[in-house]
Amino acid sequence: MPGKMVCFDKGERTDMKLKILCIGDLVGRPGRRIVSQELNVFIKEHNIDCVIANGENAAGGSGITPQIYEKLLRYGVNLITLGDHAFRKREIIGTLESQQDISRPLNLSEHSAGRGYGIYKTAKGPVVGVANLIGRIFMKPADCPYSAIDKLLPSLNQKCDIVFVDMHAEATSEKIAMGHYLDGRVGCVFGTHTHVVTADEQILPKGTAYITDVGMTGPHESVLGRGVDSVLKSFRTGMPFAFEIAKNDIRINGIVVTVDASSKKAEHIERLRLEKQYHEESAYDSDNGKPQYLNDNF
Ligand SMILES: [Fe+2]
Ligand SMILES: [Fe+2]
Repeated sequence: MPGKMVCFDKGERTDMKLKILCIGDLVGRPGRRIVSQELNVFIKEHNIDCVIANGENAAGGSGITPQIYEKLLRYGVNLITLGDHAFRKREIIGTLESQQDISRPLNLSEHSAGRGYGIYKTAKGPVVGVANLIGRIFMKPADCPYSAIDKLLPSLNQKCDIVFVDMHAEATSEKIAMGHYLDGRVGCVFGTHTHVVTADEQILPKGTAYITDVGMTGPHESVLGRGVDSVLKSFRTGMPFAFEIAKNDIRINGIVVTVDASSKKAEHIERLRLEKQYHEESAYDSDNGKPQYLNDNF
């Protein structure tokens, strides 16, 4: 079974460059399909050492199931982060409690299921950690992400050679602020949640790679992955409608970051946009759980 709970030693050799791919919110079956067909090829062709995917929309657009968790690992994903939809499919709770390669946001209630970080030992040796934070502007109430990451980093740094942070937030200001707050303390801060990629990838002054949002892995002929007609109907009438998953213009959006596991600094960040001409006949399958009805806040 993939992703068992094991204790890693930090990498024996830490004088190594790592290429880490971070992909944005993976939406429903179309997102899973392109990842299943393209990810392993991309990993091999580009010598990717670790893949981090935000999976909060992987099951029918909201949440993730244990079956989909296992599938994503088979497709080449090594670490899964989540967001405001972390617990939308309750059956994932057992996985969150038992596996160390999937995490919910760190700054939720301390009584929430699971952990706020994930850990993966690369084939080369160095151990990659990803901390998952959630924003507080235009989002549900959460604890302070700054205090939460300050508290976590000393112990996470002991377990890992390099730490990435998924800042799952709506407001650009909140993500940019977190990038600067963690500059020089982690390898990369990347934003998720808006499903819209930003063009501000950069290496911050103290060596942390940064982007405000890595975008969406899913159908782009859509409103954030959902069918245009149903979202428009809802916005225009103020009435609840099912937001079905869209089907066309499926892309993987993400970033590839090169980091030095010994200096813990990023050397390069590049946006990835990988598209294929698929047409999804069906947006749902048995792993999705029940389709979500009523306005769903994406
Ligand atoms: Fe989200
Ligand atoms: Fe999302």
